[in-house]
Amino acid sequence: MSQLNQALIRRPRRLRQDARWRAFVQSQHLHAVNFIMPLFIKAGDKICQPIQSMPGQFQYSLDQLPQVAERLAESGIQNVLLFGVVQDKDPLGQAAAQSNGLIQQAIQILKHCCPHWLVIADLCFCEYTDHGHCGVLDANGQLDNDATLPHLVAQAVSLSKAGADLVAPSGMLDGMVAAVRAGLDAHGHTQCGIMSYAVKYASGLYAPFREAGEGAPQSGDRLSHQMHVANGEEALLEARLDVEQGADMLLIKPGYGDVVYRVTQQYPDIPVGAYHVSGSYAMIKAAAEKGWLNEAEVIEEVMLGYRRAGAQFIVTYFADWITQHLC
Ligand code: PBG
Ligand code: ZN
Repeated sequence: MSQLNQALIRRPRRLRQDARWRAFVQSQHLHAVNFIMPLFIKAGDKICQPIQSMPGQFQYSLDQLPQVAERLAESGIQNVLLFGVVQDKDPLGQAAAQSNGLIQQAIQILKHCCPHWLVIADLCFCEYTDHGHCGVLDANGQLDNDATLPHLVAQAVSLSKAGADLVAPSGMLDGMVAAVRAGLDAHGHTQCGIMSYAVKYASGLYAPFREAGEGAPQSGDRLSHQMHVANGEEALLEARLDVEQGADMLLIKPGYGDVVYRVTQQYPDIPVGAYHVSGSYAMIKAAAEKGWLNEAEVIEEVMLGYRRAGAQFIVTYFADWITQHLC
């Protein structure tokens, strides 16, 4: 063995010898500011409806929001992502862009209660259309990309008017970021940001979200617009298209580490986030319930893994628990 190797050989365990050493050389940390808490807002009154497949998560009606916001703020939450669960669905999802719409009101309430928060609004139609698809359908019942774009723009402008700091287009439509950026700017909303779901895979891990968001497609699937899970290089094309169209930050969903790593390597100057999706949450909850793993330990491990892969921010249903216990 060379002299250099002799000098190095005992370094790994020297640096791990006790908690002081381990803390000193720890690379990644979890900070409250990097976590985003998703919230499901439901039309109605006095609703605090548990989501069966996501233990610990609830749908809330607007009247509940002040106390929910207070609790979240106390646990250290600084960023939220809003999903709407509406009753008045139609083929065009028109409830998405009303000035007194559900999410528009939710934004106003949360901005009033927690002016220091970043409020991010999901931008898609699957929760607003009666057919459950992410936009307008053509004569053959297929998602009509270009016919959907003006509706997305109207929704984005409406959410921004209500006070959203960022909109998060999640439908994986071609040209959505360019259309939304141009629409926001044309209405003077140059300060409203775009957090694009640049890389969104067609994933079985979204199943619990379908219960939470009540936006499952009534027939068919999302394979014509969401990415196939077999593809990695394609994520770089998706990221490039969204960056060139004006996305301020990119979201990888599910937040697979290899994809987060590749995209952050390609765009070191763009914030990239990971979404710890509903199915990943449900798996940890279910195994912990059975006593098969230690929930706290696994949550920290998974989140540090995202940070290690390069994620600047993390969307997770564990966000309030993490900011309270790990930050
Ligand atoms: C739809 C949307 C979905 C999720 C977020 N936004 C479901 C889908 O695309 O089918 C999934 C989130 C999760 O599983 O936590 N706009
Ligand atoms: Zn959608």
